[in-house]
This record gives sequence, structure tokens and C-alpha cells, in this order.
Amino acid sequence: MLRYSKIFVFLLCLWPLYSIIYQIFYNKLGAEPVDKIINHFGEWTLIFIFLTLSMSPLKKITNATIWIKYRRMLGLFVFFYASIHLLSYVGLDYRFDFQPIINDVLKKKFVFIGFAAWLLLIPLAITSSDKMVKILKQNWKKIHRLIYVIGIFGVLHFIWLSKTIFFKPLIFLIILIILLLFRVNFKKLSSKV
Ligand code: HEM
Repeated sequence: MLRYSKIFVFLLCLWPLYSIIYQIFYNKLGAEPVDKIINHFGEWTLIFIFLTLSMSPLKKITNATIWIKYRRMLGLFVFFYASIHLLSYVGLDYRFDFQPIINDVLKKKFVFIGFAAWLLLIPLAITSSDKMVKILKQNWKKIHRLIYVIGIFGVLHFIWLSKTIFFKPLIFLIILIILLLFRVNFKKLSSKV
């Protein structure tokens, strides 16, 4: 049963790909197709970060461990969509001309923080297997807490590139704050006061 549900979730996670292929085939990308593709995958990367971060709170709320079974797949989709997002920027926007890309990373703070978020995703993707969980033991949890930093960097990237917080970046910021608040152990905090 779990196997079939995982296949179903996997196919569902490919939705952003189906949707962009449909828009390419039916000429629905609009006047700025490259920007549309970059932004599409950027937004979906953030959505997948949020989905990954939602699994633990859902486990707590519903008292069901099933959510955790999908967390690794969702996390790998974060890396997958972030990499397509990066690749469309490098390949479609700059046609693999690396000098202006390096300038962008160094001069534009929104590109810098987006790139930093992508770099931080690499250790998470590399250490996602069961084998790595066993090898790294307690350190695995520490490394995978980076997903919170990546979420913060991703939202900052969105706010800085939009130049205004209204409205989509604000909505993403609120969702991130709610998800981060789930991580705060209020019982532990109040016992320390
Ligand atoms: C975890 C990593 C990342 C996340 C979550 C992310 C997220 C986003 C989001 C949400 C958008 C805006 C979508 C919209 O306007 O609807 C965006 C746009 C963009 N991102 Fe990223 N991004 C990430 C990594 C990167 C990287 C590595 C680069 C390049 C080095 C990059 C470059 C850009 C560019 C150039 C845009 C378009 C800006 C424009 O509209 O002019 N991003 N990204």
C-alpha cells in the first residue's frame, strides 16, 4: 500500500514539470518565456521546501507517522526543482556564459542568497540515503536542520528580487514563520523562564 502511495505522490510531485511542458507545447508562456520558466521553478522550489517542512508538524497534529515516509522524496524534489531553476537561469538566461553569472552572484544579493541556498541543498541531497543516516548518526539530524536555513534564504531571495514584500513574498514569509514556529519547543522554553 505504502509503495503505491509513494508512486502516486512521486507522480504528483512531477506536476510542475507537466505544467511547464504543457505551456511550452501550447505556447502559453507569454511575452517573457525565459522569465516565466525561471520563476515557475523558483516558486515550486519554495513550495517543495514548505511541503518538506510540513511533514513533522502533520505527524504531530494527526498522530500518524505516515507523513515522515514522504519527507525524503519531497526533500529530493526540492533539490531537483532548485537545480532546474538554477539551470534555466544559467542556460536559458545566460546561455552558459559564466562571467556575467559570476558577476550576478557577487553583485546581486538576491542571486547570492539563492545560490547559497542551492549550495546548502547539496549536502542534504548527498546524505539523504538510509546508509548515510546510519553512518552519520546524530550528525545526520544536525546536517538536515539546514533545511530551515534554506527556507529562510529562499524567502529572502524572493523578497529581495521582488523589491517589495507585497503580496506573494509576504504570503511565503508568513507560511515560513508558521512552519518555523512548529519547531519551537514552547514547553522547553517556558520551563527555562
Ligand atoms: C533553494 C533555492 C532557491 C529558491 C527557493 C528560489 C526561489 C525563487 C523564487 C520564489 C523566485 C521568484 C518566482 C516569482 O517571481 O514568481 C525566484 C526567481 C529567480 N531566482 Fe531563484 N531560487 C533559488 C535558487 C536560485 C539560484 C541558485 C539562482 C541563481 C544562481 C536563482 C536565480 C533566480 C533568478 C534570476 C530569478 C528571477 C528573477 C527575475 O524575475 O528577474 N535562484 N527564485
